[in-house]
Amino acid sequence: MAKLPIIKIGDPVLEQEAVEVPKITKKITKLIDDMLETMYDANGVGLAAPQVGVSQRIIVLDVGEGPVVLVNPVIQSAQGEEIDVEGCLSIPERWVYVKRATQVVITGLNEKGKPVRIEADGYFARALQHEVDHLHGVLMLERMLAEAEVEQVESPVSEGAEE
Ligand code: NI
Repeated sequence: MAKLPIIKIGDPVLEQEAVEVPKITKKITKLIDDMLETMYDANGVGLAAPQVGVSQRIIVLDVGEGPVVLVNPVIQSAQGEEIDVEGCLSIPERWVYVKRATQVVITGLNEKGKPVRIEADGYFARALQHEVDHLHGVLMLERMLAEAEVEQVESPVSEGAEE
């Protein structure tokens, strides 16, 4: 595994629609491993492939219950709404309020190419929506309702490290 540089806001790769992964090759498996290492190293809870400069539909997450890998993820349904604070590894030092669905059902493939279906709520649901947004070239700033001061937030829901 290798730690990859995280692409920061301003790079066009973060604004592109990522393409589907046609097949899980060794190269993709290595990319997934590297994305996980990069995410853990950055104390992140999620990372999307465009954030390491690869415009393909892969996300990795760990909201404290172990690694989750989704290739070609699709949000099948979304319910409820809630406003909370998010950060992004590609947008350092910014914390913003974003409205997200509270429950989502998402499908995709795992790292072995097996179809998976995940029902998520709360924090996990928010993180999934944030990462899927990255695959559509959408950053949290586009959804921002207001800027947040991290000091004012007890427990920021974050893609990145919590200070
Ligand atoms: Ni992000």
